[in-house]
Amino acid sequence: MGVLTVEVPNKTYDVVIEQNVYERLQTDYAPLLKRADRVGIIADEFVYETYGDTLVEIVQSVQANVSVYEVPKGESCKTLAVYGDIQSFLLKEGLTRNSILLAFGGGAVGDLTGFVAATYMRGIPFIQLPTTILAHDSAVGGKTAINLPEGKNMVGAFHQPEAVLFDLNVFKSLPAREWRSGMAELIKHAYISDAAWTEQLLAEPKFAQPAFETLESELLRGVRVKADIVREDTFEHGARKFLNFGHTFGHAVEAATHFGELSHGECVMIGMGYALVLSETLGSIDEGEAARFIQFAKAQGYSFDPIFDHSFDHFLSYMQKDKKASFGELYFVILETIGTPRVVNVDVATCEQTFQTLQTIVKG
Ligand SMILES: NC(=O)c1ccc[n+]([C@@H]2O[C@H](COP(=O)([O-])OP(=O)(O)OC[C@H]3O[C@@H](n4cnc5c(N)ncnc54)[C@H](O)[C@@H]3O)[C@@H](O)[C@H]2O)c1
Ligand SMILES: [Zn+2]
Repeated sequence: MGVLTVEVPNKTYDVVIEQNVYERLQTDYAPLLKRADRVGIIADEFVYETYGDTLVEIVQSVQANVSVYEVPKGESCKTLAVYGDIQSFLLKEGLTRNSILLAFGGGAVGDLTGFVAATYMRGIPFIQLPTTILAHDSAVGGKTAINLPEGKNMVGAFHQPEAVLFDLNVFKSLPAREWRSGMAELIKHAYISDAAWTEQLLAEPKFAQPAFETLESELLRGVRVKADIVREDTFEHGARKFLNFGHTFGHAVEAATHFGELSHGECVMIGMGYALVLSETLGSIDEGEAARFIQFAKAQGYSFDPIFDHSFDHFLSYMQKDKKASFGELYFVILETIGTPRVVNVDVATCEQTFQTLQTIVKG
């Protein structure tokens, strides 16, 4: 079992990673469920179909008043329409300010449920029950959001969960692309915090689908990086920006490929390749680090195809629209050295040069 306590202003909560963790809803977290007048479970339809019966049985053994709302799987649930439908459903089912929500699914359901919880009757508590590797990143830290047709995560709120409970058993059904997605965020946590850990991950032959024995401690390590940063900078004025390592270009890849071809983390992996090339130019990391990372990523099954399918200008247009771009200026997280991130403002000519270098390295 792995437990880590997250501290943010006015709140502390635990992240627990273990097998059969939902049983803790009958013990440690039973008072929370009993105190509530009703429990609302917002579930990814695929996850619910596969694991929902067990969860509902456990919750009902503590609190008989349970309402379940299944949402379309993955990113397609993060819409204004689904958000509105859930609010109406919760009202109809009689949830009040004394009710609690459970988010059951990957990062998408976590973001959606968190935002519903932040706003339903001006805010009710929620528990994250994340079911993807990527959610070691998304379920911790209290950022919640839904998408608009104009852009991702454009409407949201900061709302911290009461607890984050990861059941290792549910990872068994994750497809390879979702493993790759989550492990990309894990190596991001290594790159921005710890050179020795980064080396260890780069040397891991089965990085993208690690053994279960190592997963618990590795995920906890990733959560610790995130939790430390979030404690220091809950509302993203400074250090929290470091978590965007690989994301400026990664988000542009995601947008250019219409959020379909590759998963979020797979796009971030491309973005980290880009950020490492940039770090060789603007930071003091050794020349060859970017090439080493790209070789590693390719060997682990990550694709770099999108950088040959679209022009630099196409990616640039998305980077300039990113909500982290300020007055059209482009900001990137680069590494001064491995483990030491820094935010830099980069001009368009350097961005284009970086793109070309990335293409050259990937072609190998
Ligand atoms: N709030 C934050 O700080 C933060 C940080 C990073 C990412 N995010 C958000 O997280 C979302 C991505 O999350 P994600 O990668 O977990 O993807 P996801 O929630 O979209 O799930 C991906 C797919 O995996 C399936 N799935 C989930 N659990 C499964 C399981 N145990 N077995 C088999 N299939 C399963 C889902 O049905 C879905 O099809 C994005 O919306 C992103 O914006 C938020
Ligand atoms: Zn991410």
